[in-house]
Amino acid sequence: MPDNATLTPPNEPEGMIETASLCRHFHVGDSWVHALDDVDLAIDEGDFVAVMGPSGSGKSTLMNILGCLDTPDAGEYRLLGEPVNSLDDSALSAIRNEKIGFVFQSFHLLPRMTALENVLLPLRYSGRDSTVLRERAAELMARLGLADRLDHRPNQLSGGQRQRVAIARSLINSPPILLADEPTGNLDSRTSDEIMGLFAELNASGQTILMVTHEDEIAAHARRLIRMRDGRIEHDSSTH
Ligand SMILES: Nc1ncnc2c1ncn2[C@@H]1O[C@H](COP(=O)(O)OP(=O)(O)O)[C@@H](O)[C@H]1O
Ligand SMILES: [Mg+2]
Repeated sequence: MPDNATLTPPNEPEGMIETASLCRHFHVGDSWVHALDDVDLAIDEGDFVAVMGPSGSGKSTLMNILGCLDTPDAGEYRLLGEPVNSLDDSALSAIRNEKIGFVFQSFHLLPRMTALENVLLPLRYSGRDSTVLRERAAELMARLGLADRLDHRPNQLSGGQRQRVAIARSLINSPPILLADEPTGNLDSRTSDEIMGLFAELNASGQTILMVTHEDEIAAHARRLIRMRDGRIEHDSSTH
């Protein structure tokens, strides 16, 4: 056997996200809500995962922790091999900006800014040449079907277009992982299908995606399905 037999082979998918016994509790009234209860999860590079489960089962809590918008009360979270638990606020915000794209159900666009300006937001402190950045943003937006919408404000766009702008914004820093919490929750079914087509294309070109949805038709676009219940992973199609 060669000496390096224990090393990970070069074409083995890299561990993108790993959690061990992740817990998040909320004190509500006189009792504790176990929003996340001992969650072990591994997401590999190139995965396209749908997270499903009843309302209140912990899906958003999980996404917020994975997106470094919230921190667990117990357990471990490694992102790209790095333990996130021990990082301070500035390190966390750097990770949020560079390693994670986050897409929300309600788009979270700034209403007074144009679509292009919204997409450029994550780059505002990059100190890089603004002409180059604008070109890059315009290119990405064209790829997402927004070539003729750069100067529109959010209220001049359809729901599907707003979500495309939000997706462009989430991808402008080429984050290794895209997290989406009910990205089609405010869209009609045709527009939802278009957004899922886009996710499938992004995933085919290598983008790792983890999305929450409560619709079977939406989840069917993903390649792996995780079901949550009462803060736990009840089923994971990659292990069953
Ligand atoms: N900030 C909070 N304060 C108190 N309880 C919360 C908070 N966030 C979530 N919860 C509770 O944690 C549980 C899981 O919530 P959530 O992750 O939003 O579920 P889901 O996204 O699956 O609907 C629910 O019982 C919810 O009420
Ligand atoms: Mg939720």
